[in-house]
Amino acid sequence: MLTGNPVFDAFVRDMHGVMDVAGGDEALILDRGRALVAALVADDGWLPEDYAQPHPEHFKQYVLHRDGERGFTVMSVVWNKGQSAMAHDHKTWGIIGQLRGAEREREYEDPVPGEPLKLRAETVMHPGDTCVVSPDTGDIHDVANAFDGVSVSIHVYGADLPSLADRRHRYEVATGEAIPFITTYY
Ligand code: FE2
Repeated sequence: MLTGNPVFDAFVRDMHGVMDVAGGDEALILDRGRALVAALVADDGWLPEDYAQPHPEHFKQYVLHRDGERGFTVMSVVWNKGQSAMAHDHKTWGIIGQLRGAEREREYEDPVPGEPLKLRAETVMHPGDTCVVSPDTGDIHDVANAFDGVSVSIHVYGADLPSLADRRHRYEVATGEAIPFITTYY
């Protein structure tokens, strides 16, 4: 958890405000929350280095804020050169902002059992860029570090991800096979 950081504390406070105003209106949360995340990642200078350290074998997640009451979680996700995450769903809304480096994100259509996943869009995120995931508008993507070095993105989710683990899946893109998902905070 990251506390006592003026930039991040202000973001959390503003995010609380958005959640309170929006109630359960997910479209409104994504719209206003995305603007807040965009502002947060427009300036790279607030994230302590302790939360930006890569792991040699896999991408690494650091919990920056967890609010079980309002149901949202903020993490930094750190990718060493060459690291990636296979296609996965989230089962909650999410907003991702690129803080440092670059990440290639491929979005997929909702899966059809027994068929390969169908690519919907592919983008390379650069510092200041944002994207969203949502069970309502597109929940499956894969992500890879597209930078010749460490890449860092900030992720905001509408739930505590481990609590959703038994509902989430990873996917083999070529076959569409769904694999049960386990989220771990390293
Ligand atoms: Fe994701």
